[in-house]
Amino acid sequence: MDKLKNKVAVITGGNSGIGFGIAEAFRNEGATGAITGRNQSTLDRSVEALGEGFISIRGDVTNQDDLENIFQKTADAFGKIDVLVVNAGGVVDGIPLGAISDVTEEGYDRYMDLNLKSAYFTVQKSLPYLNDGASVILIGSSAAHRAAPGMAIYSAAKAAVISLAKGLSLDLLARNIRVNTLSPGSIDTPVFGKLVPEEHLEQVKQTWIDLIPVGKQGLPSDIGKAAVFLASDDSAFIVGTEILSDGGMTNISLMK
Ligand SMILES: NC(=O)c1ccc[n+]([C@@H]2O[C@H](COP(=O)([O-])OP(=O)(O)OC[C@H]3O[C@@H](n4cnc5c(N)ncnc54)[C@H](OP(=O)(O)O)[C@@H]3O)[C@@H](O)[C@H]2O)c1
Repeated sequence: MDKLKNKVAVITGGNSGIGFGIAEAFRNEGATGAITGRNQSTLDRSVEALGEGFISIRGDVTNQDDLENIFQKTADAFGKIDVLVVNAGGVVDGIPLGAISDVTEEGYDRYMDLNLKSAYFTVQKSLPYLNDGASVILIGSSAAHRAAPGMAIYSAAKAAVISLAKGLSLDLLARNIRVNTLSPGSIDTPVFGKLVPEEHLEQVKQTWIDLIPVGKQGLPSDIGKAAVFLASDDSAFIVGTEILSDGGMTNISLMK
């Protein structure tokens, strides 16, 4: 219950899905800190559910000033930061994913900005506020390893995030800051509602379940538990690598 006692965490996108699952798991292990997002009502609801050890900070991770503000405000409230979870990402509002013939230059840039560039600058802007010895967790995706329809840009961005964990760990070695990627497989979060009309939601989730060896989608709490491990000193010797939490989807075939 106290693996993260006295640790201060920032979780971007902590007001929904996987980010909220990570924030809950961190809270349960004694951490305090900040969740971020753009939607004020889900921020309010989430921070109330987390309780008094957490604050919410509104900000767009594709905006450099907002990133600066997130870390400044967290440091003002809690002092230096021990754990950073770079989770905000996924679907860009109003821009559908698509095959190469359908993707515009604007769509390409917006997906890369949200899923790759923002990850890089979230880490960069956090640096003055991170404690030496901090753990940085980048949220990747099993999509980096296995193609799925319409997801080439998103998958490429997440593949680059997995690479960032290596390069940034090297850059930050002198400060003993570990950067690792935690890559979820198909996790049951509100993201599916952003991609698929309500009437097709169950069918699309079932299509994913049929690909997952353990026979179910993951839950945000599954990712939360893996994030606790990467945030805690239990993973002190794990540096610049990736942990897949995907129910076996990437590495095991269900071929009969
Ligand atoms: N669910 C899955 O199956 C799955 C699988 C692999 C990887 N992932 C990754 O896991 C992460 C979380 O996804 P999720 O499934 O939990 O999705 P989600 O429920 O849609 O949550 C996305 C989060 O990102 C925040 N966000 C999005 N754009 C933002 C922006 N421009 N600035 C600041 N915050 C922004 C959202 O908050 P606001 O809307 O309030 O800004 C929200 O908190 C993403 O990086 C996603 O790529 C998800």
